[in-house]
Amino acid sequence: MRVAVYPGSFDPITNGHIDVLERSSKIFDRIIIAVVHNVTKKAMFTLDERVDMIRQSAAHIPNVEISCFSGLLANYLIEKQACAIIRGLRTVTDFEYEMHMAMINREIIPEIDTIFVTSDKNYIFISSSGVKEASMVGANVANLVPPVVNQALKQKYQASISLTT
Ligand code: COA
Repeated sequence: MRVAVYPGSFDPITNGHIDVLERSSKIFDRIIIAVVHNVTKKAMFTLDERVDMIRQSAAHIPNVEISCFSGLLANYLIEKQACAIIRGLRTVTDFEYEMHMAMINREIIPEIDTIFVTSDKNYIFISSSGVKEASMVGANVANLVPPVVNQALKQKYQASISLTT
């Protein structure tokens, strides 16, 4: 069985991530989405909230499982007996960062490859920070994120308005 891990902060999951997932799910037997607590990023959603939103948004993809991890990605890959890491590539600006991470991971665990999945052209401009920022100033991001995420962002927006009024 060919198992791949798709790691990321997913704060929150976007339609761009779903696109990468749908494409990868046709290549691998099982995809494990690994939600990471990234210490360098201040999260809007808790790990549980992110996992719950991913579960609902990816329910239509049968071979996807969702989990969280902390620590070294390489150890998690060994634990899950994965043969690959999936990363989405939007534009050339992602490339340098992703290549760097892929090289570090290869150094740590040479037998595992990073597979870059290119985004659909409709999603190359989407990022989690972008949708958070836009929704926090009242923009409609319904076309950029799954419905459950749209709802959650609206609730955060409403909560921020009531705090300032
Ligand atoms: N659609 C939408 N957004 C996309 C995207 C796509 N196709 N591809 C990338 N992105 C965006 C994400 O939304 C995210 O946006 P944000 O910065 O606004 O939140 C950004 O690109 C990339 O973030 P993410 O995928 O969450 O990765 P990351 O850089 O936060 O974390 C890990 C990368 C988790 C894989 C890495 O930090 C890791 O492996 N950590 C474990 C520790 C470790 O082993 N380190 C050694 C290896 S480097």
